[in-house]
Amino acid sequence: MDIKIKRVIGRSKAKTNTSLYAYISAVSFIAFIFLLYLIKTYDVTDKTLLIVFSLLCVVAETFLIPMPKIGAVSVSYALTFSAILLTDPLTVAIISSVGVALRCPYVEGKGRVNIFNNPIYKTIFNVSQYIIITGAGSIVYEIADKIIDVGFVFFNPIASIFSLIIYIFLNSLFMAILMSLILNKKVIDIWKNSIFGILYNVVLVSLLGIVIAFSCDSYGVGGIILFFIPLMFARYTFKLYLDMRKNYFESINMLIRTIEANDPYTSGHSVRVSAYAESIARKLNLPQSKIDLIKSAGLLHDIGKIGIDKGILNKTGKLEKNEFEVIKCHPQIGATIISDLSFLSNLSDIIRHHHERNDGSGYPDGLDHEKITLETSILTIADSFDAMTTNRPYRDALDLEYSLREIKDNAGTQFNPDIVDVAVIALRESYNIINNY
Ligand SMILES: [Fe+2]
Ligand SMILES: [Fe+2]
Repeated sequence: MDIKIKRVIGRSKAKTNTSLYAYISAVSFIAFIFLLYLIKTYDVTDKTLLIVFSLLCVVAETFLIPMPKIGAVSVSYALTFSAILLTDPLTVAIISSVGVALRCPYVEGKGRVNIFNNPIYKTIFNVSQYIIITGAGSIVYEIADKIIDVGFVFFNPIASIFSLIIYIFLNSLFMAILMSLILNKKVIDIWKNSIFGILYNVVLVSLLGIVIAFSCDSYGVGGIILFFIPLMFARYTFKLYLDMRKNYFESINMLIRTIEANDPYTSGHSVRVSAYAESIARKLNLPQSKIDLIKSAGLLHDIGKIGIDKGILNKTGKLEKNEFEVIKCHPQIGATIISDLSFLSNLSDIIRHHHERNDGSGYPDGLDHEKITLETSILTIADSFDAMTTNRPYRDALDLEYSLREIKDNAGTQFNPDIVDVAVIALRESYNIINNY
């Protein structure tokens, strides 16, 4: 959660002003006083736990779990929360602050960022924030646990909820104030926008914290390490998967740019076909793996056009029979190109058959309803719909209702009749989104 704050601080170097430094100083001062109070009031009850959890927190904060769209998340709060369940507020505050002070996560464009190469005020702010938030969360748990006895030996669910509420409230408040100073916006507006994201993350991660606390309670501190190693391994595997996915879509984008550079008239066609095909696949409730396959096939279906003469491809008049025969080669050329790339070869058949027709009169292989896969049928509808609703070298774009009626009228002859009704609903919705109606 402080990751976002850190990023914002980094982004706003120029905007860092007096009120921001005053805020950071105030938070640091409160954290210092609060830490003195914790040292005076509590003793570290289990030194082994303190050392092991602190080290694991550094590891968790260093090897963040990358998440598409939201950046990265840390599971260090799972460790902090399990420490709240198992030990005292002083230990909790030390564990979380050591984790954030000594971490060295990888930041794109900067490499490994650590206490020595990061501005010291960022580290002080993050550490101060963690001392206050986790220390307060732990004290609230302790007080609620004493007042409300629910009869659980291992942990108190009611006290956990109070502790989480305090953690989420303080975490979101610190972030909202900081961002309001940086962005010059109202605290309440930023707070309202961020609270649910934090709530979702913290609740999920704290469930993991309960499992960690349970294994520590049952098998001792060694049990945590045994639990933590597979967790980090899973994180590594997940990161490899995300890296691979990123490379995959970057390669596809590069290929699309190649197609569209050759045929600028159809610029955007591949992206729209992919979006239409995706919307039909989603409406048909296909699994995510199939949706991904259809999206990629949509992006690459016309890649074979890079092998077709530009003069024929961009001809504005009516095509001669022999010219049409040349254009008809593009599905085979595309399938051959794709089959040579091992990571895309599963798209080859869909690309080869995107001009087949349900009645068997299409090309290149004359497949019919029985032999055309569902993925290919979806792509064919999406491709024809975009061709109808956009300008072509030989005619202007056709109207939405006319195009949808054409799809319906050609169910059974050109298109798979089993999916036409669902496809028309999906196409209407996505057409309106793509064209901003
Ligand atoms: Fe095509
Ligand atoms: Fe196409």
